[in-house]
Amino acid sequence: MSRKIVVTSALPYANGPIHIGHLVEYLQTDIWVRFQKMCGNECFYFCADDTHGTPVMISARAARISPEQLIGQVHKEHKADFDGFHIEFDNYYSTHSPENKYFSELIFDRLNKAGSIVSRQVEQTYCENCKMSLPDRFVRGTCPKCKAENQYGDSCEVCSATYQPAEMINPCCSTCGATPVLKKSDHYFFKLGDYEQRLKDLIASGHIQKSVANKLDEWFNAGLKDWDISRDGPYFGFKIPGEENKFFYVWLDAPIGYMASAKNYCDNNNIDFDKIWPGTSSAGESPNEYELYHFIGKDIMYFHSLFFPAMLMGAGFRTANKLFIHGFLTVNGEKMSKSRGTFIKASTYLKHLSPEYLRYYYASKLTDSIDDIDFKVEDFINKINSNLVGKFANLASRSGPMLTKKMSGQLGQLDDQGTELINKLTAAKEQVIEDYEKLKYAAAVRTITALADEANRYVEQNQPWVTIKTDLEKTRTTLTAVINAVHILTIYLKPIMPKYAEKVEKFLNVDKLSFEDVETVLENHTINKFKRLVERIDEKQVNAMIEESKESSGPSESQTQSSQPTAAESPEPFKPECTIDDFAKIDLRIAKVIKAEAVEGADKLLRLELDLGGPEKTVFAGIATAYKPEELTGKLVVCLANLKPRKMRFGLSEGMILAAGAGGKDIFMLSVDSGAKPGEEVH
Ligand code: MSP
Ligand code: ZN
Repeated sequence: MSRKIVVTSALPYANGPIHIGHLVEYLQTDIWVRFQKMCGNECFYFCADDTHGTPVMISARAARISPEQLIGQVHKEHKADFDGFHIEFDNYYSTHSPENKYFSELIFDRLNKAGSIVSRQVEQTYCENCKMSLPDRFVRGTCPKCKAENQYGDSCEVCSATYQPAEMINPCCSTCGATPVLKKSDHYFFKLGDYEQRLKDLIASGHIQKSVANKLDEWFNAGLKDWDISRDGPYFGFKIPGEENKFFYVWLDAPIGYMASAKNYCDNNNIDFDKIWPGTSSAGESPNEYELYHFIGKDIMYFHSLFFPAMLMGAGFRTANKLFIHGFLTVNGEKMSKSRGTFIKASTYLKHLSPEYLRYYYASKLTDSIDDIDFKVEDFINKINSNLVGKFANLASRSGPMLTKKMSGQLGQLDDQGTELINKLTAAKEQVIEDYEKLKYAAAVRTITALADEANRYVEQNQPWVTIKTDLEKTRTTLTAVINAVHILTIYLKPIMPKYAEKVEKFLNVDKLSFEDVETVLENHTINKFKRLVERIDEKQVNAMIEESKESSGPSESQTQSSQPTAAESPEPFKPECTIDDFAKIDLRIAKVIKAEAVEGADKLLRLELDLGGPEKTVFAGIATAYKPEELTGKLVVCLANLKPRKMRFGLSEGMILAAGAGGKDIFMLSVDSGAKPGEEVH
């Protein structure tokens, strides 16, 4: 009997772009959902943007747009990125939605009535200049333990101490630099401890992977503390009913966003939401009609294994059957890094490489554990070229063209050896299905690759390129087996490579493939003309992607003081103080642009030749998105003339020109009245 399943991925924050780290999760989920659908199960995949909270509010302020505009823009970008990677949501919604407001209020109200909400006075860090209370990450200062400067308000990256912002030495607001004050305020708390036993029961029933259950024991042993679920305005979020200036904390309404996305889909498609997400009273009598799974990263386990299920229990809603928790992406063994160019945005990746490469590569690495997975550039290129192209696509390219050119695409029948090969491939079906079901994609890919090896050996033994010269029918028999191998292997790979599979479906002249087609043998069947299925990767493409990722990393690379507010998850910290003496070292001069030209391979850079009243300097400036080279020639600009020359990929940069702005079209160069002369000092 077919199953009914609802699946979610964590809701990405709306204050930054999708990157290849995120994609571990969305691809892992998408593959699972496609797999379920291919097994004939009903499976819905719901997700949304996580839109609320302080960082979104601050990013919007910095970009001088409303938070609604910002999240609207980001929603489009996220959706385009996901589409680009063939991630197929049944609904991609937003937490800033009427459905989410409704459920957040409903759940809060029910928890309140159940006695699970208390109100208590807290002392919070407040910036009188920004007129807002500051989340810990928006306070910077000196660590009270080890005295390291410029640390976040909750913990020290040098000595790992954790503390309150108020305990820091010289705390300051990371938006404006002012010293914050402490302000008293009444906050709402959710009494998580009331749910301890029920949460323990839930976890004992297999709610999460065994390997992470230990972590939960630690949390239980440390004691479940009340959770602060309100924030004072100004705050971008849902106002708490009956309150003037208090809002639900973003993490209260974020997981409820799963329900909101489901509800919105149900309403648009005439499905009864109560069946998908029933209240517990009805679920108590009969098992849930739908299985429910949340895919998440290990960093947000606390919210999903404790807060969210407790909220649902308290409000009388069903909880998930299971959480699927994955580890983090590292690149070449290290955290993704903007300066190394390994903080690769989904959109940057797509400019250089096919999405199916990454789908295949991640699948070949993913297991059911929470171990981190490493993107190794060499390994990536190698896996695509030797396996995807060299093994899978190769089978099709060795058989298709010969069949269509010499035999009008007409298949024959399997002989004994062909039947033996195909039986071997068919026999792996249950194993492949089980591996997908249990999230052991790496194992599935290993099995499928070994089968492709088997099929390639068969081709080598039978040498159709030799027999074609003497024995057409024998060759037809051989190629019929190869085509059947392509058929089965493509079914096995289809959850991972849906577009590749589509091309094979066209080529094989068959309907949309699903797992029940594994046993169908293609005999006396006509196939269509073969078209290339995948291209080899050239290392240059990967390098270009990494180079481009370096460029978009901000001021130090592009030599322009521009910030990118929407890309920041927490604000850029202030650098250590600079004295007036430090500042006096800066030599600013009027410079005349003699020549300006684009830099090949760097979308954002212009190469400027500057006249500084005699001496000439070459400067690479990250202003190409805002200025055309031809409008700069002859202009007088301000140049930091005594900057130590720096070797860049494109040449030596001997200074910096002054410009500011949010990036993109919004970069404004300081240009000077024509009365000034090149080389004059600027004060
Ligand atoms: N907004 C929250 C989730 C709310 S769910 C009710 C959030 N957003 S996020 O954008 O930071 O992350 C979204 C998902 O991507 C999370 O599950 C997170 O673990 C995952 N990943 C983000 N960076 C990642 C890597 N570098 N590697 C693997 N997964 C990563 O958390
Ligand atoms: Zn401030």
